[in-house]
Amino acid sequence: MNRKTIRTTANKSPCPVRLGINVDHVATVRQARGTKYPDPVEWALIAERAGADSITIHLREDRRHIQDRDLDLMQRSVKTRVNLEMAVTEEMIEIAIAAQPVDCCLVPEKREELTTEGGLDVLSQIEKIREAVVRLKAAGIRVSLFIDPQPSQLEAAVSCGVGVVELHTGAYADAPDKSEIERELNRIRVAADFGESIGLTIHAGHGLNYHNVKPIVAITPIVELNIGHAIIARALFDGLSKSVSDMKKLMQEERGF
Ligand code: PXP
Repeated sequence: MNRKTIRTTANKSPCPVRLGINVDHVATVRQARGTKYPDPVEWALIAERAGADSITIHLREDRRHIQDRDLDLMQRSVKTRVNLEMAVTEEMIEIAIAAQPVDCCLVPEKREELTTEGGLDVLSQIEKIREAVVRLKAAGIRVSLFIDPQPSQLEAAVSCGVGVVELHTGAYADAPDKSEIERELNRIRVAADFGESIGLTIHAGHGLNYHNVKPIVAITPIVELNIGHAIIARALFDGLSKSVSDMKKLMQEERGF
């Protein structure tokens, strides 16, 4: 494929970027105590009312946060669309085909990792991924691949038959200094331009927060971001005053104060 045909972002008129909210960490808090609360579905509905354009959940093989039942309830309750992140395994493909979310994002998964480290190596497993994509698409699911911002991975994604990729922004988010940040940002810019030029819809996500999101939004081929941890972490603080005062009020009411 000719990489010289890359279009620059400068001559494009930008459209608003959609925000997908990843609610996994609401389930992480629930699973930490084995309680019924906090409910990620309830959280998803609040996020939608606040403007979320989609809800992302990662059903991991070890079920460390999102459970099968959450997927089922999400599918019945979410009004925008569910984006199911999953590993490329037989178990997950069968679950996705049965649940039929609007979107599936295929991600790499290692049991010992804290979060999804690095993108899917599509190049080294084109046949396996292509077969999964064919089966998911046949079930009416739009499929994306979570990949590092590398032109060779984008080309491999096209070979697998997907129309969407999500570029991993983790290296950008973790970059320690200005020059490293600019280097990573440039890799994402080049990959986004190249991906668009070969007909892919470009999403991005991982490690994005209130301080680093703007330069990513400035990359016009990117039409959707998936953000989780930073939004849930911010909500802990923004909701803290009310959470404490509600508890205090309940206790005082019971004693007649
Ligand atoms: N996109 C993908 C494919 C992910 O795996 C994750 C993390 O689960 C995210 C986006 C969201 O990352 P973060 O929680 O760091 O915002």
